[in-house]
Amino acid sequence: MSQPPSLALLNTLRQLLGDAHVLTSDQTDLSSYEQDWRKRIRGKALAVVRPANTQQVANVIKACAQAQVSIVPQGGNTGLVVGSIPDDSGAQVLLSLQRMHAVRAIDTDNLTITVEAGCVLQHLQHAAEQAGFLFPLSLGAEGSCTIGGNLATNAGGTQVVRYGNTRDLCLGLEVVTANGEVWHGLSGLRKDNTGYDLRNLMIGSEGTLGIITAATLKLFPMPAAQLTAWAAVPSVEAAVQLLGLAHQHLGAGLTGFEMMGQFALSLVDKHYPQLRVPLWQDTPYCVLLENSDSESETHARARFEHVLELAFNEGCVSDAIVAENLGQARNLWHIRESITLAQADEGLNIKHDISIPISSIPDFVAQTDARLKQQIPGVRLVNFGHLGDGNLHYNVQAPEGGDTAAFLRVHEVAVNTCVYQSVKQFGGSISAEHGVGSMKVDSLPDYKDPVALQMMQQIKRALDPQGLFNPGRVVR
Ligand code: FAD
Ligand code: MLT
Ligand code: ZN
Repeated sequence: MSQPPSLALLNTLRQLLGDAHVLTSDQTDLSSYEQDWRKRIRGKALAVVRPANTQQVANVIKACAQAQVSIVPQGGNTGLVVGSIPDDSGAQVLLSLQRMHAVRAIDTDNLTITVEAGCVLQHLQHAAEQAGFLFPLSLGAEGSCTIGGNLATNAGGTQVVRYGNTRDLCLGLEVVTANGEVWHGLSGLRKDNTGYDLRNLMIGSEGTLGIITAATLKLFPMPAAQLTAWAAVPSVEAAVQLLGLAHQHLGAGLTGFEMMGQFALSLVDKHYPQLRVPLWQDTPYCVLLENSDSESETHARARFEHVLELAFNEGCVSDAIVAENLGQARNLWHIRESITLAQADEGLNIKHDISIPISSIPDFVAQTDARLKQQIPGVRLVNFGHLGDGNLHYNVQAPEGGDTAAFLRVHEVAVNTCVYQSVKQFGGSISAEHGVGSMKVDSLPDYKDPVALQMMQQIKRALDPQGLFNPGRVVR
């Protein structure tokens, strides 16, 4: 008697990877793979497979393609748009890259590091540091997100203002295609004009075009000093003015510029009082600035103090502190990076990662705040993010004490429409960082240029004709 197709595939996968690396829910609790980070959706996998090397990934893809079973790649499962978990059919294979975490090579003359996709971002940062270099990608999830996931989502984080997003940090990729072939694209070349840019096509494709198995990334010299300041600003306009001063007077030394609204900081104060959030009670916004200097700490401090003095004189800063030491600086960054967790502790919420030309951000915030407050009396706006990149996390929390699940049921679609329409009005993008996943896939056609969307669909069909890579994400 022949086996059902899914059972036959499971047997093949076990032969390819060994029983210990084909996990099924009858033997193992798969919730950490099947539940998204925000606890919005729980899927159900046919199996979780954990290949150890690129050849095993290729073999898994071939077996799944043969069985016409779709595959969801997963790194650290910290994505915020429900793109890394299986759907609820119980028919998809979840391919975890976690066992592929090796640092393959460091080339100090070429200023590159080559790592496997499952390497946790923090390990990558440490490996670079041990070799005497900086790998500048930095985000709140760095202790568990992987470089493969960062590449697949083209993650941003807090250093983009100086070093760019993950795409800007990548020189080469190794990728397994939808028919199980391996593209060996791990060049450390800074220049290569031999045709279409496949590397940049894969980056940001959220697992829909190929499985990234390794990457060659740029390294940078370690700054001689890094100083952090925390400034109270009287308005969003003032924050934009301060950004202009920081660009003008710190030049390439400006490596971080984050804005945090009062309510966002009040959540950190409420849920993590031990972090002692400074200066937040008497000001609508605070700004976190970082100045990296290639000369010395004294030089860095003098330049920083000069900028802050100018800002006081121009009225765009009302109070400020400059961290005295590394410990204080880390604590200030920790406060900033705790906003997402504090928001999660406060309850389910609506997230946005929009971008707007920086010059339009004050008007965007004023108009969208007013519309939402009129639409939902008592709504709480958690506005913070990477102002230096024109990227806000314009998040929306239920009114105090409200039923958060009911809030989402009733208001999520209308809130998204309100925010996205506003983004469109100001010439922005509905996703600057987190990607499309399944959460924005149905909104994308309303906000993406139709010709661009059509080309995306054609590319998807050309590279994944059976539609097996992360179906239902990014494009339908
Ligand atoms: P996963 O969540 O596992 O996957 C994300 C997507 O990539 C999925 O579509 C998945 O299918 C695909 N994928 C994963 N690995 C591969 C691979 N090897 N090949 C092909 N596709 C793959 N993002 C920002 O941009 N900036 C921030 O500042 C930021 N801060 C965050 C803070 C917190 C506390 C959290 C929880 C998240 C934050 N994020 C931020 C979200 C961010 O997208 C992720 O943290 C990170 O980039 C995803 O990496 P991951 O390994 O967890 O990927
Ligand atoms: C961050 O910048 O902290 C995350 O990208 C934001 C979020 O949680 O919305
Ligand atoms: Zn962010």
